Amino acid sequence: MIKIAPSILSADFAHLADEVKKVTDAGAEYIHIDVMDGTFVPNITLGSPVVKSLRKTSQAVFDVHLMTEHPETQIEAFAEAGADIITFHAEAAKHHHRIIQQIKAAGCKAGIALNPGTSLAMIEELIADVDMVLIMTVNPGFGGQKFIESQLEKIHMLYHTIQDMGFTCDIEVDGGINAETSKLVREAGANVLVAGSAIYGASDVSEAIKAIRG
Ligand code: DX5
Ligand code: ZN
Repeated sequence: MIKIAPSILSADFAHLADEVKKVTDAGAEYIHIDVMDGTFVPNITLGSPVVKSLRKTSQAVFDVHLMTEHPETQIEAFAEAGADIITFHAEAAKHHHRIIQQIKAAGCKAGIALNPGTSLAMIEELIADVDMVLIMTVNPGFGGQKFIESQLEKIHMLYHTIQDMGFTCDIEVDGGINAETSKLVREAGANVLVAGSAIYGASDVSEAIKAIRG
Protein backbone atom coordinates (compact mmCIF):
# COMPACT_ATOMS: atom_id res chain seq x y z
CA MET A 1 0.00 0.00 0.00
CA ILE A 2 2.83 2.44 0.87
CA LYS A 3 4.90 3.37 -2.19
CA ILE A 4 8.35 4.93 -1.99
CA ALA A 5 9.33 7.46 -4.66
CA PRO A 6 13.01 8.47 -4.46
CA SER A 7 13.54 11.91 -5.97
CA ILE A 8 16.42 11.92 -8.45
CA LEU A 9 16.87 15.63 -7.73
CA SER A 10 19.27 14.46 -5.00
CA ALA A 11 20.97 11.90 -7.27
CA ASP A 12 24.24 12.34 -9.16
CA PHE A 13 23.09 13.72 -12.53
CA ALA A 14 26.28 12.45 -14.20
CA HIS A 15 25.20 8.85 -13.43
CA LEU A 16 21.42 9.00 -13.55
CA ALA A 17 20.77 5.52 -14.96
CA ASP A 18 22.89 3.93 -12.20
CA GLU A 19 21.22 6.12 -9.59
CA VAL A 20 17.76 4.99 -10.76
CA LYS A 21 18.84 1.33 -10.73
CA LYS A 22 20.29 1.69 -7.25
CA VAL A 23 16.93 2.67 -5.72
CA THR A 24 14.74 0.33 -7.75
CA ASP A 25 17.02 -2.58 -6.81
CA ALA A 26 16.53 -1.46 -3.21
CA GLY A 27 12.75 -1.80 -3.53
CA ALA A 28 11.48 1.67 -4.49
CA GLU A 29 8.19 1.48 -6.40
CA TYR A 30 8.39 4.85 -8.19
CA ILE A 31 11.10 7.16 -9.51
CA HIS A 32 10.16 10.77 -8.74
CA ILE A 33 11.35 13.14 -11.46
CA ASP A 34 11.35 16.84 -10.53
CA VAL A 35 10.92 19.12 -13.53
CA MET A 36 11.64 22.77 -12.72
CA ASP A 37 11.48 25.61 -15.23
CA GLY A 38 13.28 28.48 -13.48
CA THR A 39 10.02 30.48 -13.48
CA PHE A 40 7.39 28.68 -11.41
CA VAL A 41 10.30 27.82 -9.10
CA PRO A 42 13.79 29.37 -9.15
CA ASN A 43 15.70 26.25 -10.17
CA ILE A 44 16.06 24.61 -13.59
CA THR A 45 16.46 20.81 -13.59
CA LEU A 46 15.68 18.58 -16.57
CA GLY A 47 13.27 18.09 -19.45
CA SER A 48 11.60 15.31 -21.41
CA PRO A 49 14.77 14.24 -23.35
CA VAL A 50 16.32 13.11 -20.07
CA VAL A 51 13.19 11.10 -19.23
CA LYS A 52 13.30 9.54 -22.71
CA SER A 53 16.89 8.40 -22.20
CA LEU A 54 16.20 7.06 -18.72
CA ARG A 55 13.16 5.16 -19.98
CA LYS A 56 15.47 2.98 -22.10
CA THR A 57 17.33 1.92 -18.96
CA SER A 58 14.49 1.30 -16.49
CA GLN A 59 11.06 -0.35 -16.15
CA ALA A 60 10.25 1.62 -12.98
CA VAL A 61 7.13 3.75 -12.66
CA PHE A 62 8.19 7.28 -13.63
CA ASP A 63 6.41 9.82 -11.44
CA VAL A 64 6.93 13.20 -13.13
CA HIS A 65 6.39 16.27 -10.94
CA LEU A 66 6.01 19.34 -13.15
CA MET A 67 6.97 22.53 -11.34
CA THR A 68 6.45 24.61 -14.47
CA GLU A 69 4.25 27.42 -15.68
CA HIS A 70 1.91 26.38 -18.53
CA PRO A 71 2.07 22.67 -17.70
CA GLU A 72 -0.39 21.98 -20.55
CA THR A 73 2.43 22.63 -23.04
CA GLN A 74 4.55 19.79 -21.61
CA ILE A 75 2.14 16.87 -21.24
CA GLU A 76 2.54 15.10 -24.59
CA ALA A 77 6.34 15.43 -24.58
CA PHE A 78 6.65 13.80 -21.16
CA ALA A 79 4.05 11.13 -21.97
CA GLU A 80 5.89 10.20 -25.16
CA ALA A 81 9.20 10.22 -23.29
CA GLY A 82 7.85 7.51 -20.97
CA ALA A 83 6.21 9.18 -17.97
CA ASP A 84 3.66 6.99 -16.16
CA ILE A 85 2.24 9.62 -13.82
CA ILE A 86 2.22 13.35 -14.57
CA THR A 87 1.49 15.77 -11.75
CA PHE A 88 1.11 19.51 -12.27
CA HIS A 89 0.70 22.37 -9.81
CA ALA A 90 -2.76 23.83 -9.23
CA GLU A 91 -1.10 27.25 -8.83
CA ALA A 92 0.50 27.06 -12.27
CA ALA A 93 -2.65 26.44 -14.32
CA LYS A 94 -6.10 27.87 -15.00
CA HIS A 95 -7.96 24.96 -16.60
CA HIS A 96 -7.22 22.14 -14.17
CA HIS A 97 -9.96 19.81 -15.31
CA ARG A 98 -8.93 20.13 -18.94
CA ILE A 99 -5.29 19.38 -18.14
CA ILE A 100 -6.27 16.28 -16.16
CA GLN A 101 -8.19 15.03 -19.20
CA GLN A 102 -5.21 15.89 -21.39
CA ILE A 103 -2.85 13.82 -19.21
CA LYS A 104 -5.22 10.86 -19.29
CA ALA A 105 -5.68 11.14 -23.05
CA ALA A 106 -1.89 10.99 -23.35
CA GLY A 107 -2.02 7.61 -21.59
CA CYS A 108 -0.74 8.64 -18.14
CA LYS A 109 -2.14 8.80 -14.65
CA ALA A 110 -2.92 12.35 -13.56
CA GLY A 111 -1.89 14.09 -10.36
CA ILE A 112 -2.43 17.60 -9.03
CA ALA A 113 -0.03 19.27 -6.59
CA LEU A 114 -0.63 21.92 -3.92
CA ASN A 115 1.97 24.24 -2.44
CA PRO A 116 2.00 24.55 1.37
CA GLY A 117 0.15 27.87 1.15
CA THR A 118 -2.64 26.60 -1.11
CA SER A 119 -5.94 25.41 0.33
CA LEU A 120 -7.52 22.04 -0.42
CA ALA A 121 -10.61 23.96 -1.50
CA MET A 122 -8.85 24.70 -4.79
CA ILE A 123 -9.01 21.05 -5.86
CA GLU A 124 -12.15 19.70 -4.16
CA GLU A 125 -14.00 19.54 -7.47
CA LEU A 126 -11.16 17.54 -9.02
CA ILE A 127 -10.73 14.70 -6.53
CA ALA A 128 -13.10 12.47 -8.52
CA ASP A 129 -10.97 12.89 -11.64
CA VAL A 130 -7.35 12.65 -10.46
CA ASP A 131 -5.39 9.50 -9.66
CA MET A 132 -3.21 11.30 -7.12
CA VAL A 133 -3.05 14.50 -5.06
CA LEU A 134 0.44 15.71 -4.14
CA ILE A 135 0.67 17.71 -0.93
CA MET A 136 3.94 19.64 -0.84
CA THR A 137 5.50 19.54 2.62
CA VAL A 138 8.12 22.14 1.61
CA ASN A 139 7.92 25.08 -0.77
CA PRO A 140 8.96 23.60 -4.12
CA GLY A 141 12.28 24.41 -5.76
CA PHE A 142 15.02 22.67 -3.79
CA GLY A 143 15.85 19.37 -2.14
CA GLY A 144 16.97 19.12 1.47
CA GLN A 145 14.51 21.59 3.04
CA LYS A 146 12.78 21.27 6.39
CA PHE A 147 9.38 19.52 6.60
CA ILE A 148 6.47 21.94 7.20
CA GLU A 149 4.38 20.41 10.02
CA SER A 150 1.24 22.44 9.32
CA GLN A 151 0.66 20.32 6.22
CA LEU A 152 -0.21 17.28 8.36
CA GLU A 153 -3.69 18.66 9.00
CA LYS A 154 -4.18 19.18 5.25
CA ILE A 155 -3.16 15.58 4.53
CA HIS A 156 -5.54 14.35 7.23
CA MET A 157 -8.43 16.41 5.84
CA LEU A 158 -7.73 15.22 2.30
CA TYR A 159 -7.61 11.60 3.46
CA HIS A 160 -11.03 11.90 5.09
CA THR A 161 -12.51 13.75 2.13
CA ILE A 162 -11.37 10.95 -0.20
CA GLN A 163 -12.74 8.29 2.17
CA ASP A 164 -16.07 10.07 2.63
CA MET A 165 -16.51 10.45 -1.12
CA GLY A 166 -15.64 6.78 -1.66
CA PHE A 167 -12.74 7.45 -4.05
CA THR A 168 -9.41 5.64 -4.31
CA CYS A 169 -7.08 8.51 -5.16
CA ASP A 170 -3.49 8.28 -3.84
CA ILE A 171 -2.04 10.92 -1.50
CA GLU A 172 1.59 11.74 -2.25
CA VAL A 173 3.79 13.88 -0.01
CA ASP A 174 6.98 15.60 -1.10
CA GLY A 175 9.59 17.54 0.86
CA GLY A 176 11.54 16.89 4.03
CA ILE A 177 10.46 13.24 4.25
CA ASN A 178 12.75 11.03 6.36
CA ALA A 179 12.30 8.16 8.82
CA GLU A 180 10.72 10.48 11.43
CA THR A 181 8.46 12.64 9.26
CA SER A 182 7.34 9.63 7.19
CA LYS A 183 5.65 8.23 10.28
CA LEU A 184 3.67 11.46 10.72
CA VAL A 185 2.52 11.63 7.10
CA ARG A 186 1.62 7.93 7.01
CA GLU A 187 -0.50 8.39 10.14
CA ALA A 188 -2.18 11.39 8.50
CA GLY A 189 -3.12 9.25 5.48
CA ALA A 190 -0.38 9.66 2.84
CA ASN A 191 0.54 6.52 0.89
CA VAL A 192 3.09 7.71 -1.73
CA LEU A 193 6.20 9.09 -0.06
CA VAL A 194 8.78 11.10 -2.00
CA ALA A 195 12.25 11.40 -0.51
CA GLY A 196 15.36 12.87 -2.08
CA SER A 197 18.12 13.69 0.38
CA ALA A 198 17.02 11.08 2.95
CA ILE A 199 17.49 8.31 0.35
CA TYR A 200 20.31 9.50 -1.93
CA GLY A 201 22.19 11.01 1.00
CA ALA A 202 22.11 7.75 2.96
CA SER A 203 25.08 5.40 3.11
CA ASP A 204 22.68 2.41 2.89
CA VAL A 205 19.87 3.16 0.44
CA SER A 206 17.93 -0.05 1.26
CA GLU A 207 17.92 0.77 4.95
CA ALA A 208 16.79 4.34 4.23
CA ILE A 209 13.90 3.09 2.08
CA LYS A 210 12.92 0.54 4.73
CA ALA A 211 12.95 3.18 7.46
CA ILE A 212 10.79 5.57 5.42
CA ARG A 213 8.35 2.78 4.54
CA GLY A 214 7.98 2.10 8.30
C1 DX5 B 1 11.16 19.93 -4.12
C2 DX5 B 1 10.99 18.68 -4.94
C3 DX5 B 1 11.22 17.45 -4.14
C4 DX5 B 1 12.60 17.32 -3.57
C5 DX5 B 1 12.48 16.61 -2.26
O1 DX5 B 1 10.78 21.03 -4.87
O2 DX5 B 1 9.70 18.59 -5.47
O3 DX5 B 1 10.84 16.28 -4.84
O4 DX5 B 1 13.48 16.61 -4.38
O5 DX5 B 1 13.74 16.59 -1.64
P1 DX5 B 1 13.91 16.23 -0.10
O6 DX5 B 1 13.33 14.86 0.12
O7 DX5 B 1 15.37 16.29 0.08
O8 DX5 B 1 13.17 17.27 0.68
ZN1 ZN C 1 8.95 16.65 -6.29
